[in-house]
Formats: sequence, structure tokens, C-alpha cells
Amino acid sequence: MSTTIEVTGVQPSTITVGRDLGFDPIVAALDSAATKVLIVHARPLASRAQALAEHLRSLGYEAATADHPDAEAGKAIDVVAGLWDTCGRLQLGRKDAIIAMGGGATTDMAGFVAATWLRGVSLINVPTTLLGMVDAAVGGKTGINTSVGKNLVGSFYPACAVVADMSLLSSLPREDLAAGAAEVIKCGFIADPVILRIVEETDPDVLLDPSSEQLAEITTRAVAVKARVVSADLTEGGLREILNYGHTLAHAIERANDYTWRHGDAVAVGCCFAARLAHARGQLSSEDVARHDELFSRVGLPTRYEGHTLAELTHIMASDKKVRRGVLRFVLLDGIANPRTEAVEPGELAAPAEAIGIRP
Ligand code: GLY
Repeated sequence: MSTTIEVTGVQPSTITVGRDLGFDPIVAALDSAATKVLIVHARPLASRAQALAEHLRSLGYEAATADHPDAEAGKAIDVVAGLWDTCGRLQLGRKDAIIAMGGGATTDMAGFVAATWLRGVSLINVPTTLLGMVDAAVGGKTGINTSVGKNLVGSFYPACAVVADMSLLSSLPREDLAAGAAEVIKCGFIADPVILRIVEETDPDVLLDPSSEQLAEITTRAVAVKARVVSADLTEGGLREILNYGHTLAHAIERANDYTWRHGDAVAVGCCFAARLAHARGQLSSEDVARHDELFSRVGLPTRYEGHTLAELTHIMASDKKVRRGVLRFVLLDGIANPRTEAVEPGELAAPAEAIGIRP
């Protein structure tokens, strides 16, 4: 069984979430005039990428595969340049396609190649991590890292189709599933309380089992939240900022730790911090603050941070993309499922930070 979610707006796309989807939804997403396909994949997925290439060849397409260095090392300009050369050797044309198969680093980087080769060829994302399914592969953010920072070069370039096959998660380590669950729970807090109820009522072993109905349900719901938001605001002119709930502190924690922290772990801490900030402003009850800690820790995610001082983290947060005229802005809840971006004075950070273990 599968669910199809439509992203509307200037660049529509279709997201399919299901189990044992096979290659059919990928083939169906190819343009009728396509004759060539380049499959860009993370190295551990070589055999699946080859199987897809052989399937495409059996249908008459010219198909090639290209791997890339793992994780953030793959999001580099020399990797992109190598793939531009591969596109050139293949004579990949405007109606042809790039299929990105892997986690967020793969879909970010291969999406950037698709956005730039011939000023844009079809992109089909096949995310193989939970984080990729609910976040990176959906919504069109593509990009690479440079010597001056992460994700500073890129474009908004949505895949025409995202094929999220839950059966591909079966070999994912539990910590990576939990890190993906952080973004799912975040979607619950900003827009879909049913996600929160399912997380509360489901045994964590079942919830993080890739074959469970509950994981499929909350994944589909989180994708639907993201699809609704990016349908209204693809290029982050306003509403899309709500997807950044918990991310202001999370990005600072990740950067302070040279990106050795999992993104989802940092998001969990960031949401628990933002909940306390909203509580201090009278916008969120103490029960809802406690609910943040309970839900994230229920799936094994951290809710406290003791590594760097608030002064160090605030210095990093001053470069956050939401800062306006030097003023920090956070996505805060005014009650569950009612997020908005608000300016925050540095003095307001101390008590919420202390409450989650951050020293001044
Ligand atoms: N990860 C947040 C966004 O896609 O806007």
C-alpha cells in the first residue's frame, strides 16, 4: 500500500510513501521523452543502483550509475564537477533524468547537479534514510558545502517525484531512525498533533521498526506537513521558516561540534529549548514543555546539552539565516501546532538555556 502526496505551487511534485514499491513509481516519473538516466548514489547502495540501472536498460533506456564519497564529503564542488563531466559524456539532455538515491547528502548534492546541468534536468529523489524521506528529499533545497560553510551554495530545485520506500530503511541503524524521528516529532509540534499522539501511544521499539504501520503513518503525516508548507512557500519567504522549529540552536550545536552531532539529535535539543523560551513568554504551558522532553526522549533522543556555553552558542546563532537587522529570531509555538517566528532578546535565552543544561 502507498500514499501519494502532491506538492502544489510553482514547481509541483509528487511524493509516494509506501513499502516494497519496487522501481515502477521511479519509471513512471520519467518524462515520456526521456531516453537517458544517471543514477547518483551513496556507495553502500551500489547493488540497488545497479539493479535499477539494469531494469531501466531492460525498458530501453540508456542508464549509468555514479557513486560519491559518503555523507558531507560528497557535498563538494569537485564531486559536482565530476558528475557534470559524467552528464556530458552521457550526453544527458533536457528531457533526461538524474535519480538521486541515498540520504540527505546525496539528494542535496545530486539535486544541485540536476538543477545546474543544462540549467535543469528532471530530478527524481529516492531517499533511503528517514531523515531524507521527511526532510531533505522533499521541498527542493539542493546544495553543497564550501570552505566558508555548509549549504551556502545551492538552489531551490524540487524533484519532480520523490519515492520514499519504507522497506529501504530496514538496514538503517536505530540511532539514524531516531534522528529522523526528531524531524517527524518536530512536524507534530508545529502542525500535526496526531503525530504526537501516535508517538505517545506506541512502544518505541514498534515506532522505530521500519516495518511498523505506526512508523509509516507518522512518516506520511510528516511528509504531508512539509508538502503543505512548501506548496505555500517554496523559497522560504515566510511560512517555510516554521520548518526551522528547534533549528536555530540545533545548527549552533552542530557547528560548535564540527558536525559530529547527528542533525536530529541537535533538533531534539533545539525544540526542547524553544519550548522553554515560548513558556517563558507565556505562550506554552509547562505540560507542553514536559511533553517535548517526553516525546523526544521516548525515542532515545537527547533533550539537554552540556558541551558549549550559551555565549559560544549565541555567537554562532548570530549568523542564523533568520536573523534580521542583527536581532535573533526563533520559531516559537503559541500553543501546539501554532508556530510563528518571533524576535528574541539575548537576555531571554539564559533561563531556557540553563533549564536544559547549557552553562552561561
Ligand atoms: N529543512 C527545512 C526546510 O526544508 O526548509
